[in-house]
Amino acid sequence: MYRFFFPVTLLVLTLIGAPAWALSNRPAGPPQAAVASAHPLATQAGLDVLAAGGNAFDAAVAVSAALAVVEPYGSGLGGGGFWLLHRAYDGKQVMVDGRERAPLAAHADLYLDGAGAVIDGASINGPRAAGIPGEPAALAHIAQHYGRLPLAVSLAPAIALARDGFEVDAHYRRWVGFRAEVLAKQAAAARQFLVDGAPPPLGHRLRQADLADTLQALAAAGRDGFYAGPVAEKLVAGVRAGGGIWTLRDLAEYQVVEREPVVVRYRDWTVTSAALPSSGGVLLAQMLNMLAAVDLAALSPPARSHLLTEVMRRAYRDRAEYLGDPDFVAMPLERLLSPTYAQRQLATISPTHATPSESLAGLAADRPGTAADPYGSGAPSGVQEGRNTTHFSVLDEEGNRVAATLSINYPFGACYVPPGTGVLLNDEMDDFVAKPGVPNAYGLVGAAANAIAPGKRPLSSMSPTFVEGPQGVALLGTPGGSRIISMVLLAMLDMAAGYTDPAHWVARGRFHHQYLPDRLQYEPGALSPRTVAALRSMGHQLDPLSTGYGNMQAVFWDRRSGKVSAASDPRGIGAARVQSVSSP
Ligand code: GLY
Repeated sequence: MYRFFFPVTLLVLTLIGAPAWALSNRPAGPPQAAVASAHPLATQAGLDVLAAGGNAFDAAVAVSAALAVVEPYGSGLGGGGFWLLHRAYDGKQVMVDGRERAPLAAHADLYLDGAGAVIDGASINGPRAAGIPGEPAALAHIAQHYGRLPLAVSLAPAIALARDGFEVDAHYRRWVGFRAEVLAKQAAAARQFLVDGAPPPLGHRLRQADLADTLQALAAAGRDGFYAGPVAEKLVAGVRAGGGIWTLRDLAEYQVVEREPVVVRYRDWTVTSAALPSSGGVLLAQMLNMLAAVDLAALSPPARSHLLTEVMRRAYRDRAEYLGDPDFVAMPLERLLSPTYAQRQLATISPTHATPSESLAGLAADRPGTAADPYGSGAPSGVQEGRNTTHFSVLDEEGNRVAATLSINYPFGACYVPPGTGVLLNDEMDDFVAKPGVPNAYGLVGAAANAIAPGKRPLSSMSPTFVEGPQGVALLGTPGGSRIISMVLLAMLDMAAGYTDPAHWVARGRFHHQYLPDRLQYEPGALSPRTVAALRSMGHQLDPLSTGYGNMQAVFWDRRSGKVSAASDPRGIGAARVQSVSSP
């Protein structure tokens, strides 16, 4: 049995608002602001808007929009995301849900052929794979309700980057090369992202005039600049011309939703993370609840890795079985989040043997084709590095914070641009369950809770997170598909173990288990040879990866020392900057 070092009194709460201690003893703002994002030009956009008098929410609008321009493989106006906000003056915490919605003409069998088989690539490539975008509505919402600058100011850096262009770097070339064949099939996408049908050369200035015009329309008219009028008409016409099913009504009816984040207490730390339709917060809460009574520091490295693997396995099992869009499905959240349930789950973990996923009750019975291919049949190998999707973290000098994870799903999403808009469409429909038991691009399986329905949001793993305790507060998150949640867990456990330098969290070696396929994946060097041998002898099926994954962007405000620090994942090209906005 695992050694408990304090009684099982962990409280898991799904409360809105800051922890009580933060409200009753609210500290002054940090001495400096910080922005960490996956691209230096997006980080600069955030700093510029802070310098122009904006707060963290205005900076978040600027960073989101700049990423849409310079990191089109990760997120964009044609996609969606989750923006986790903390407002300093009243401690309000909220998740702005700008997740895509299924078009109203969508149905559960959208990607099945006449024989009931999933049509290869149908939920990944082309406009039929695209949900109704949420990012433009989310940016307008954040600016209107939380920012202090007009959209015309906060979107100005992105508009300039789209109009004047940015220099193509090796990362852009790599990802555009990965999707060049599909991009080349559509004239508007090829024109925007390729040169003569091939990846642009290094240093090529990539200008996106149509995207600049669409951003300008958003800046001038707010959400109506995108969801109504000429932009909306071009979006729908382009989607339908390519075989998609969007209507003007889909765009007109799209709404962001403000949701209560999931809040879980772990030792001295309060973890605030994404609400459903992201599974991130629920899974983090479940895993931390299982771990709460265990003295991780007392475990040997193999025992610790084994326990964390088993905890991940159990939480991801529940994800597959139960979770979906809360506006559409009833879920047993009270049970999933209860400490009693967590302790029962912990009790099923053998300290010496791996639990075969197939032996866990429930879903494991009929999952064809999930064991051999961790990312689903036909999934491109490069996708595992985690640049499909993006994350950024912003802290301002008032103490306002934003952690945001945004996505168009696969690199370059659906590889389709409705002509005249510059808007690269998402392929987030692949995050639904196309057919129960058939894995999606991340090897994730699911059930009816995440089936396609008109207007429904697909289940996500995006997990923008705040971790707050007496010592300070961290803002973090990462891309990485299904592995996002385990990455955030590992980072926050490091923090709880006393590592308060974000450079440590973003660089640490990573490993992951997601129930099915029943494989323990790990980055090169993440597990020692001794740990690997021990895990193998316990019955784990190990899957050593040839490259790293994830692209974490983190900020930490150490309230004790007063120091603000920030870090970008060394696996990516991001930039983390800490500076006094009043005197840069
Ligand atoms: N598209 C990846 C996710 O939302 O989890």
